[in-house]
Amino acid sequence: MSEKQRVAIIGAGPSGMAQLRAFESAEQAGAEIPEIVCFEKQSDWGGQWNYTWRTGLDEHGEPVHSSMYRNLWSNGPKEGLEFADYSFDEHFGRPISSYPPRPVLWDYIAGRLERTDVRKYVRFETVVRMVTFDEGTAMFTLISEHLPTKATTTETFNQVIVASGHFSYPNTPEVSGIETFPGAIMHAHDFRGAESLKDRNVLVIGSSYSAEDIGSQAYKMGAASVTASYRTAPMGYDWPEGFEERPGIDHFNGSTVVFADGSSKDIDAVIFCTGYQHKYPYLPENLALSGPNTVYPEGLYRGVVWQDNPSLFYVGAQDQWFTFNMFDVQAWYVRDLILGTAPLPNAAEREASIAAWHERFLAIPDAEAEIAFQGDYVLDLLRQTDYPEFDVAEVVNIFIAWKHDKQQDIMGYRDRCYRSVMTGTLAVQHHTPWIEELDDSLERYLSEDVTPTPTATSL
Ligand SMILES: Cc1cc2nc3c(=O)[nH]c(=O)nc-3n(C[C@H](O)[C@H](O)[C@H](O)COP(=O)(O)OP(=O)(O)OC[C@H]3O[C@@H](n4cnc5c(N)ncnc54)[C@H](O)[C@@H]3O)c2cc1C
Ligand SMILES: NC(=O)c1ccc[n+]([C@@H]2O[C@H](COP(=O)([O-])OP(=O)(O)OC[C@H]3O[C@@H](n4cnc5c(N)ncnc54)[C@H](OP(=O)(O)O)[C@@H]3O)[C@@H](O)[C@H]2O)c1
Repeated sequence: MSEKQRVAIIGAGPSGMAQLRAFESAEQAGAEIPEIVCFEKQSDWGGQWNYTWRTGLDEHGEPVHSSMYRNLWSNGPKEGLEFADYSFDEHFGRPISSYPPRPVLWDYIAGRLERTDVRKYVRFETVVRMVTFDEGTAMFTLISEHLPTKATTTETFNQVIVASGHFSYPNTPEVSGIETFPGAIMHAHDFRGAESLKDRNVLVIGSSYSAEDIGSQAYKMGAASVTASYRTAPMGYDWPEGFEERPGIDHFNGSTVVFADGSSKDIDAVIFCTGYQHKYPYLPENLALSGPNTVYPEGLYRGVVWQDNPSLFYVGAQDQWFTFNMFDVQAWYVRDLILGTAPLPNAAEREASIAAWHERFLAIPDAEAEIAFQGDYVLDLLRQTDYPEFDVAEVVNIFIAWKHDKQQDIMGYRDRCYRSVMTGTLAVQHHTPWIEELDDSLERYLSEDVTPTPTATSL
């Protein structure tokens, strides 16, 4: 009798959770599924959405995974990320706003799986230390450590699915003279809240989502000024008074920062919002994805199959406009490849597909085209699986409208409402505008009897 097929999933964030749900849905439909082991180094699932106050190393001396902060709200409309098999209406029982705070989205992603029994597949507080592949047996050997007991386990798997995320290892460039800066310096990964930035002159380095949102948090919490320094191009929003953009940094001289255009400014706190590295410390070089954060990372057929070893898969490795529902279509497709119900083309055919998509990727002229590219990518995978159909083109329209909202009102865009492509439900206006809301809890968010919180500047 042949041994049962074994599949390892590394990480129980939204991507790993999507993979668990994908296998469960096949089992519900009558398929026989492999033995699944999901390794999760944190004590609960949710990945980035599983907030921790800790920074640096955790209670076990492991690098802290989540880069989210206490006050984080969704930075895109929830209608762009909704699961096709589990709507917000189904979870909350009533319409909610388009931009929920982090605990509300965590509740939603966890809620889908609480209705299943897939938790039994997850080994929590268990970190994957090393994965190797043996060409002879065509098996992976995986070494993991149960962090509370320090017990290590070595076992073999037929397939490995990497779902460990790629926004946890900071990219922190060198800046001339920064060692003379006397104030606080941190990377966005270690930022947990902007309250301490009240009355401070804050410098954020970068011009993408972390710079935009951490800068906005600092403004909301009453920073004296916010300066965002861009390398390539400014964000270009109509920032409120006290929030400005400057070019790249030439050097620091104590608390004075001198920019490339010769201008200077005195600063109290510096936050590097310079992105993250693809880093998979448990993988040997020939299995590890590397390179910049893009919507089409190199080396992956259909964005999920490791071209050089098609028993290795990555879910969620792309830069993300689409998130949760993209992870779902990826997970459904990976599941079908593993179950053998979707065909895996040969290496040459896969290479041709990668080359064609890569060429399209290189020709992307702007952000709107990048959103459309990712929409086409999602649609391509959707067509390969039995994941419930949804209107991907309308999601693309929602993202494009969202970008326009931000151009119109960068501090107010989170108060806008979108219509679900899954249920047709129009989101409701949240009881408190984002800029005034200081309590980001689930309880406050869902409360129907609300008294206004004091504004940050009156604290
Ligand atoms: C600051 C920030 C804000 C964001 N805001 C939004 C937003 O508003 N809306 C949105 O849609 N998306 C947002 N995102 C994007 C986010 O990447 C996705 O929503 C989602 O969390 C990605 O899921 P994932 O499972 O791929 O990775 P992650 O969420 O990173 O989860 C990976 C999991 O793998 C585990 N893990 C890692 N290494 C190991 C190991 N060696 N062994 C065992 N387990 C391991 C981790 O503990 C973690 O639980 C944000 C990202 C960041 C960094
Ligand atoms: N919910 C929320 O509100 C929220 C908040 C924060 C982050 N996020 C999510 O977190 C993820 C990561 O976003 P991110 O902004 O941290 O990373 P990112 O999108 O990868 O952007 C990295 C930024 O760092 C800049 N940069 C990189 N190297 C640099 C250098 N050497 N010098 C100067 N600048 C440099 C880049 O500039 P160039 O443009 O020049 O390359 C870019 O602006 C995204 O998925 C985002 O959606 C969400």
